[in-house]
Amino acid sequence: MNSKFKRTLVTAALPYANGPVHIGHLAGCYLPADIYTRYLRSSGRDVKFICGSDEHGSGITIKAKEEGITPQQVIDKYHSIMNDAFRDFGISFDIYSRTSKKIHHETASEFFKTLYKKGSFTEQVTEQYYDETAKQFLADRYIVGTCPKCANPNAYGDQCEKCGTSLNATDLIEPRSTLSGSKPVLKSTKNWFLPLDKFQPKIKAYLEKHSDWKPTVYGQCKSWLESGDGLQPRAMTRDLDWGIPVPVEGADGKVLYVWFDAPIGYISATKELLPDTWKDYWQNEESRLIHFIGKDNIVFHCIIFPSMLMEHGEFVLPDNVPANEFLNLEGNKISTSKKWAVWLHEYLQDFKDKQDVLRYTLCANAPESKDNDFTWKDFQTKNNSELADILGNFVNRVIVLTNKNYNGIVPEAKEYTKTDLLVLDEVAKAPEKIAEALEKFRFREALAEMMNLARIGNKYLAEQEPWKLIKTDENRVRTIMNISLQIAANLAIVCEPFIPFTSKKLFELLNLSPLKWSSSRNTNNIASGHKIGADNAILFSKIEDAEIALQLEKLDKSRASISTAKQNPPIKAETTFDDFNTMDIRVATITAAEVVPKTDKLLKLTLDTGLDVRTVVSGIAVYYKPENIIGQKVIMLANLAPRKIKGIESQGMILMAENSKGELCFVSPTNKESENGSIVK
Ligand code: MF3
Ligand code: ZN
Repeated sequence: MNSKFKRTLVTAALPYANGPVHIGHLAGCYLPADIYTRYLRSSGRDVKFICGSDEHGSGITIKAKEEGITPQQVIDKYHSIMNDAFRDFGISFDIYSRTSKKIHHETASEFFKTLYKKGSFTEQVTEQYYDETAKQFLADRYIVGTCPKCANPNAYGDQCEKCGTSLNATDLIEPRSTLSGSKPVLKSTKNWFLPLDKFQPKIKAYLEKHSDWKPTVYGQCKSWLESGDGLQPRAMTRDLDWGIPVPVEGADGKVLYVWFDAPIGYISATKELLPDTWKDYWQNEESRLIHFIGKDNIVFHCIIFPSMLMEHGEFVLPDNVPANEFLNLEGNKISTSKKWAVWLHEYLQDFKDKQDVLRYTLCANAPESKDNDFTWKDFQTKNNSELADILGNFVNRVIVLTNKNYNGIVPEAKEYTKTDLLVLDEVAKAPEKIAEALEKFRFREALAEMMNLARIGNKYLAEQEPWKLIKTDENRVRTIMNISLQIAANLAIVCEPFIPFTSKKLFELLNLSPLKWSSSRNTNNIASGHKIGADNAILFSKIEDAEIALQLEKLDKSRASISTAKQNPPIKAETTFDDFNTMDIRVATITAAEVVPKTDKLLKLTLDTGLDVRTVVSGIAVYYKPENIIGQKVIMLANLAPRKIKGIESQGMILMAENSKGELCFVSPTNKESENGSIVK
């Protein structure tokens, strides 16, 4: 902890109000932010936790068109779904606002005007893409094309979500309009740009002061600064009709770029929450600003928003941006449109009151330093073998034994043995270890330390066997049970950031009002003579195989759509018949095949083309064994210029189809009348 700070403002990325929240969102951003905030609160630190819906941008208007409703209906619908989901999962925002609110429009407009007056923007007439069919400029999600950095064929006009690079639409290779699929034309228009190229030195200096950020975050920022020509100017306005109107003259029909207004949403929401004291969190050097986000938001939070804040001049800059990587689901990328996701509201229908099981599993598997996978099987194991068998079992034994032997009254510790003292020492140290990990945003480690405390308790009971001793040494049992109850109380404190619903139940079982983190170092939180609560002490019920099978079945229905949609690139740009006609495509038969020496991918094929016999080298050895393809009819491009591959002249190319697993398979004429040499046209 850095002692120069008196206050912390924690933000979690404002989610777009165009779809429900799924486990990827929760694991990547909202859960770690919540755990961190709960821990700070419990430690008595001054902290506020800010979030809200991001209700502008092309993602909203595109969704409206898809659903056949207005953008306003879209944001109302999803704002409410998201708000409920966060609440149901115990995400303890101090405020969950929305960027469609008046206070936000005003705050964002003011911010823009301040920068405008300072001359921070460059006003530029540039050529931007325009869809002549839809009669609309194409920005952001209205345009896709191939990413110039990583070749992702579906990069957006402002960002490639695959490699995280921020783009200008004009950087895209083979751009396509997502409105009509047509090839966009260029049209002049005026916009206001942030000259990030000019800000580069101060951004660099700012980042270098934060070389302690997560290596994934720091590394990404550094590479943007250092790659190619470094930072490029970026338009902060758009020719679109949904958003906050650009508040200067001569900007009719233009709105603020969603990534200009949305992060200002953190400020507006703080203002809404604390009309009188919001500046203490934003404009005071003693305040620490922490942004929790997913990795696709790094450039906006580490470069663009800090540039805006620096230009404005009155605000503190982000002190840390602990971005997470992505969470996959059963081995595949989570996708709402492809229905490959677990949505929070659906989860609760199937696993009522099991919010903490999901919180626990997602934290244990958090994609902290690399992408990670959520599987239902692992979810079941985490519940059954960790939450139920370790934490639940320990608490259950403590409560049941106390009720049975002492009518629920906490017995007095009589005399401590060496083992007792060692255990008490370990118990006292546990919160420190957890806190240390949390301060460094190491949530998985912190969670493991928390569970370790339950393990200590379990082991202690198993070794001391109070259920046997009760017949021979009742005095000793009093001490053992007292210590066990203290461990249970401490568990209730330190599990609260991670699994708050369980913490609450545990405090109720112990009949204690919730204790703060500072008490967790004490090993005397429950006084002897205190009466604990009821004896129904099952914190976690087991999750049956059938319940897991049901979830997997649900996913199976979407499997087809993810595999085809995942691999198949969109249709290429138009070609002409004349271009097509230059290709000589023929039916041929493989008459011999062998692996090219010293390679494992290439086959040397002999083909009977009906007109001649040829050699073609083809990269299909991983998919086909030579002996299995003799006699195989294929389609080949017969007039492809010959080229040497591994010293063999390849005289043409066999056409193959790539399936959803990325495997190549023959495209073969099945009609028996097609013979070698037949032309394909
Ligand atoms: N709506 C964005 C997303 O879901 C995140 C916006 S974060 C903010 O990726 F900083 F702009 F608020
Ligand atoms: Zn890319």
